[in-house]
Amino acid sequence: MQRRIVAVCIAFAFAAVVTLTKQHTQSTNVLKRDNYEHANYGNFKGFFNYALNISNRLASLNVKNFAECSLECIINAACYSFNIAIWSLKNSNSFACHLLASDKYNHSSKFVPSQEFHHYAFVSPCESSPCKNNGRCVSLYKENSYVCLCGDGFSGIYCEIDHWKQMTTSPVCFGASADSFGRFVAPIAGDLLTFKLIYQNGSVECAAGSSSHWGCTYPEMAQDHRLGTIITNSQSVRLLPKDYYFLKGVPCRSHFYGLPGQTVDSPELLFDNFSTPLNVSLGEEFQIWFTEDLYKCGYADNGLGKTCVLVFGLFV
Ligand SMILES: *[C@@H]1O[C@H](CO)[C@@H](O)[C@H](O)[C@H]1NC(C)=O
Ligand SMILES: *[C@@H]1O[C@H](CO)[C@@H](O)[C@H](O)[C@H]1NC(C)=O
Ligand SMILES: *[C@@H]1O[C@H](CO)[C@@H](O)[C@H](O)[C@H]1NC(C)=O
Ligand SMILES: *[C@@H]1O[C@H](CO)[C@@H](O)[C@H](O)[C@H]1NC(C)=O
Ligand SMILES: *[C@@H]1O[C@H](CO)[C@@H](O)[C@H](O)[C@H]1NC(C)=O
Repeated sequence: MQRRIVAVCIAFAFAAVVTLTKQHTQSTNVLKRDNYEHANYGNFKGFFNYALNISNRLASLNVKNFAECSLECIINAACYSFNIAIWSLKNSNSFACHLLASDKYNHSSKFVPSQEFHHYAFVSPCESSPCKNNGRCVSLYKENSYVCLCGDGFSGIYCEIDHWKQMTTSPVCFGASADSFGRFVAPIAGDLLTFKLIYQNGSVECAAGSSSHWGCTYPEMAQDHRLGTIITNSQSVRLLPKDYYFLKGVPCRSHFYGLPGQTVDSPELLFDNFSTPLNVSLGEEFQIWFTEDLYKCGYADNGLGKTCVLVFGLFV
């Protein structure tokens, strides 16, 4: 394989630019790879004492210096960033160099302070955080552009359009026993796709010492079916979650459910969608229940604590 590197520029966080090769080509793009995916040049930005902690490494190399690691990245068609060790390996002059198939914008939660590594990524328009409402920024390096991947209920080029409507102006609280459900009424009419509850304060207790925002942390409970917060209509008939998400077969515990990506202490509880949107009228009442209180099952040892939330509805 012919290596066709023309120039590598390294823009450090403190703005010094280092040109590594003899020939320097001017370009507005930060990365150019030819038809055979050989990189011609790439501009890197350094993030000192940070690492992108993702498991899908393209390669783990030992290199003499930073320049060698950056060259290895630009000649590897799948490489978009790398971590390089701050300190050389014991009894040698080489440094660990991890080539990565993605970048920190695509995996922002995995970008972490590090005592061992510096992180380098191709200069990206995602650096200015153009995606709103926790949208994920995916760099299109060759086009010097990006796209925003929006979370549920957000849309628009920058995820700037918010389809969530706040349904409560002050917190609503619900407890785990003695019919201590919370209620709220729809401030608008419309077709509702789902609800989400934003945690404010407090907790519910499903057994002595087992407190959480939304469910039950009792050790014998199934790990993936511990949520117990339920939305009902004004007749206390469950609306969400749907049957599908509940545990089957075990008395009382069958009233707990699991939702992908949600835990008993998530900062917000995003429910599943109605199969067909619910036609809600202005002033229609809804209730929030703890499952053992609603179904009167296994509630004798429940504490008196309450969880307080703000309610949002996703209208279509
Ligand atoms: C990196 O990720 C692994 C597994 O996801 C985790 O165990 C480890 O603590 C992380 N390291 C840092 C420095 O965050
Ligand atoms: C970003 O992540 C998605 C999947 O989560 C992946 O398909 C895509 O290739 C990644 N893009 C970059 C530039 O890392
Ligand atoms: C619920 O509907 C929204 C909007 O159509 C969609 O983005 C989301 O993926 C759906 N959620 C689930 C769990 O299907
Ligand atoms: C939540 O906070 C409010 C105001 O700070 C307080 O009045 C209320 O008692 C708290 N509720 C719980 C359940 O902790
Ligand atoms: C929802 O209900 C309102 C009045 O209650 C009615 O005018 C509207 O057509 C209904 N929408 C759907 C999609 O059923």
